[in-house]
Amino acid sequence: MKRFVCTAAVVLLTAWTAAAQSRLETLKEAYKDYFTIGVAVEMGDLLATDKALQIKQMYNGLSAENDMKPISLQPREGVWRWSNADNIARFAAMNGMPLRGHCLIWYKQVGEWMFYDDKGKLVSKEVLYERMRTHIHTVMKRYKGRVYAWDVVNEAITIDPEAEDPYRPSLFYEIAGEEYIRKAFEFAREADPDALLFYNDFNEFMPYKRDHIYNMVKKMKADGVPIDGIGMQGHYNIAHPTEDEFRKALELFSSVVDHIHITEMDVRVNAGLGGGLVAEEDTRGLTGVTELTPEIAGRQADQYEMLFRVMREYKDVIGNVTFWNTDDKETWLDRRAGAEGRTFPLLFDDDRQPKPAYYRVIDF
Ligand code: G3I
Repeated sequence: MKRFVCTAAVVLLTAWTAAAQSRLETLKEAYKDYFTIGVAVEMGDLLATDKALQIKQMYNGLSAENDMKPISLQPREGVWRWSNADNIARFAAMNGMPLRGHCLIWYKQVGEWMFYDDKGKLVSKEVLYERMRTHIHTVMKRYKGRVYAWDVVNEAITIDPEAEDPYRPSLFYEIAGEEYIRKAFEFAREADPDALLFYNDFNEFMPYKRDHIYNMVKKMKADGVPIDGIGMQGHYNIAHPTEDEFRKALELFSSVVDHIHITEMDVRVNAGLGGGLVAEEDTRGLTGVTELTPEIAGRQADQYEMLFRVMREYKDVIGNVTFWNTDDKETWLDRRAGAEGRTFPLLFDDDRQPKPAYYRVIDF
């Protein structure tokens, strides 16, 4: 009888300890020996007390989802709007959360003024560079010492797997050719020699895109362009990347840079893939999902578990993993115009409660 009581006590104690741990352990605590875990926020997220509390407790990194983008900071030439970005930077500093800067040069969310003169004609390369330099210098100097890493150039590689030209058509590219990418990094290094400088893109595990990024970064490094890291956005789904696809990208990128950040992670349960919403064929029928069934939640947990297991193996090169939004209710995927069904891509549900994927990510 005595032995039974003892055994039962041990079982109960073990169960209680496990439950207590999983209740208490946050993402940042679970990953303290691996990498920082960040989250992308809009300024409004920080005004809601309960949400702000969860952000502080759960994460030790922050990105601005939109508030540090070119059009947000400089909607017109010389007209600067700092308030949201300043408030996010203040929140990060007050709570000891390292802040990633997103982003300096992107073909999207940039004012048209960047490319045109007052007669509506495309500007020369020299004028474009002067405008890029002013933007990059003004922004980086304002946040010097407060933003430790910048996505200097975002999404400059083609989304066409068949294209011979590895670069994405854009007004930057039309005016200056691929050189604009190098110039952006040079301006960034001048502005803040201490910040880590990243090239950031999505679908970076797909062989064509992975290789284009690798080749571009390798050449830039060989030519002395000041680039420190590659940002893998990580807009994934539950079928892709496979472990092999993910490992191959990490392996290749870590052979050319010392810093990899997973900058915009989410794992959607429908057919979409990537920040540019490239359709994915092999999604095992998961189009138009409207409900997160236990089966789909389990498959999502499997995918998250695999991704984090592999990332832990690459902790020497991966310095940060950032989730793109706080919870399923807030995901950018379901907010976009024309979004169909639901995507349920994050670790927290609509009520900001942990999902099965959360427990699999922290329990290793
Ligand atoms: O600010 C305006 C607001 O004034 C207006 O009333 C409202 C009406 O639609 O739109 C607001 O702008 C929206 C903006 O988000 C801020 O909420 C834009 O329409 C909307 O297109 C924009 O979407 C953002 C998207 O980038 C733009 O491309 C998403 O929130 C943001 O999550 C997403 O983030 C990108 C990364 O920067 C780069 N990688 C891919 C990722 C997902 O596309």
